[in-house]
Amino acid sequence: MSFDVVIRGGSVVTPAGTFIGDIGIKGEKISALGEDLDTTGANIIDASGHHVIPGVLDVHVHLELPFCGTVSADDYRSGTRAGARGGVTTVIDFAIPSANGSLSEAADTWMQKAEGKSLIDYTFHICITRYNEHKAQIKGMIDRGFTTFKEFMIYESEGWQSDDRALFGTLEKMREYGGMLLVHAESSRVLDELIARYHTPEMMKKYGARLHPMTRPNFVEAEAIQRAVQWSEATGGQLYIVHMSTGEGADIIRAAQGRGVPVIAETCVQYLVLDDSVFEREDGHLFACCPQLKKPKDVDRLWQGLRRGEVSVISTDTCTFTREQKAMWNGDWTKIPMGMPGLETLMPLTYTTGVLQGRLTLEEMCTKLSTNPAKIMGLYPRKGAIQIGADADLAIIHPQSTLTVSPSTMETNADWSPFEGWQLAGFSRTTLSRGDVIVDNYKVVGKEGRGRWLPRTSAGLEGSAAEAKAARVSRGPLSPMRAIDAELVQAS
Ligand code: URP
Ligand code: ZN
Ligand code: ZN
Repeated sequence: MSFDVVIRGGSVVTPAGTFIGDIGIKGEKISALGEDLDTTGANIIDASGHHVIPGVLDVHVHLELPFCGTVSADDYRSGTRAGARGGVTTVIDFAIPSANGSLSEAADTWMQKAEGKSLIDYTFHICITRYNEHKAQIKGMIDRGFTTFKEFMIYESEGWQSDDRALFGTLEKMREYGGMLLVHAESSRVLDELIARYHTPEMMKKYGARLHPMTRPNFVEAEAIQRAVQWSEATGGQLYIVHMSTGEGADIIRAAQGRGVPVIAETCVQYLVLDDSVFEREDGHLFACCPQLKKPKDVDRLWQGLRRGEVSVISTDTCTFTREQKAMWNGDWTKIPMGMPGLETLMPLTYTTGVLQGRLTLEEMCTKLSTNPAKIMGLYPRKGAIQIGADADLAIIHPQSTLTVSPSTMETNADWSPFEGWQLAGFSRTTLSRGDVIVDNYKVVGKEGRGRWLPRTSAGLEGSAAEAKAARVSRGPLSPMRAIDAELVQAS
């Protein structure tokens, strides 16, 4: 068999195990795995002494997002170039409707942001911000190839907030159509109250940006996760908690999964490597993100959750703001544009602090960064694993070689990094996207605009909608809401 590209002699991580050998690529797909593949006429990429891992899926990014009175500074050009340097080959962003806009218009708007700019493949979660209007549009979006939706339990001032009725009703629809609802879980009314209590000139002078963590105790996230889980349990709708940052959240998810509730949790790499002591720094305001960084005990609990399984995915929640944008806070922590750059360092941070420091195996890292996100977001087996028939999305990384994180040498538009000065292994020496080399010798060489939109037909851990239906039938007792429905049908 002949190949267009042969990646030779790497330590290749596959679902069937890790082997030293070759990958044969024909066109955009992996077409052979083995030893001593025929290299006649092929472009040979030497991977000896390197790990060859599946391209990373960052399933939580915000590129060019209008937010907090400004627009996030990484767009599809800089954001996806940054991702590629860290081995990211797929991103999923959030399409948010405008003030009067439909779900479909939101998807069109985000398509326009990505088209002609994205270096890697992409799709979007569709945000439901006005349930009354948007609920009738959900099925149409699934038919259009968008199977994941998002609701925010906070951000009233942005016009994005959903209430319990919306969460409950959307989860019912997720169950009906086989989609999945992603939820930003924080308890808005309690949060508002705590912010109001501290929002005085005296407090702001005394505590500065430390008020950001001070006004968001862990119960703000825990209560909201508990509530969202309750609605998932009642409806049987597939729920995915985004950017989980607390140990309490992990406990709730573990208990819920033990009861058979269809809930999945994601954390972000910043919650695994930073804690809220950064707010003691003079430039602590730069680290304000939402939810905010937590305590060392939460960091430990999230790593434990990754190992035990209640935390399925690591993402970034990339939402980049420059120093100038962050300076908008002017001493008032409620005005800090919330979010940080992340795409470029997702895999290097996970590899260095997870794999090299013995918290995860290399295979577990690939599960959390590639295979699980692909499966959960309905992109598997096309994405997420090195196997025959899959897209040739790959990252080749040196096991030990490090680079120093420095904004001046990075692709992100950020002029700062939360990890500045850190020595990280795991930057991608070579990244391939559908067989194209897009990073070569640590430099981006791919052409902007080559990335493609990825339509989907399924979401959630149960696989396709049809399989999901069959699984639900065999899952045993009905969710409370289905039981009530069944009783009503019988009575009529
Ligand atoms: O700080 C963050 N995470 N900004 C983006 C918006 C969100 O809540 O994900
Ligand atoms: Zn969020
Ligand atoms: Zn986010």
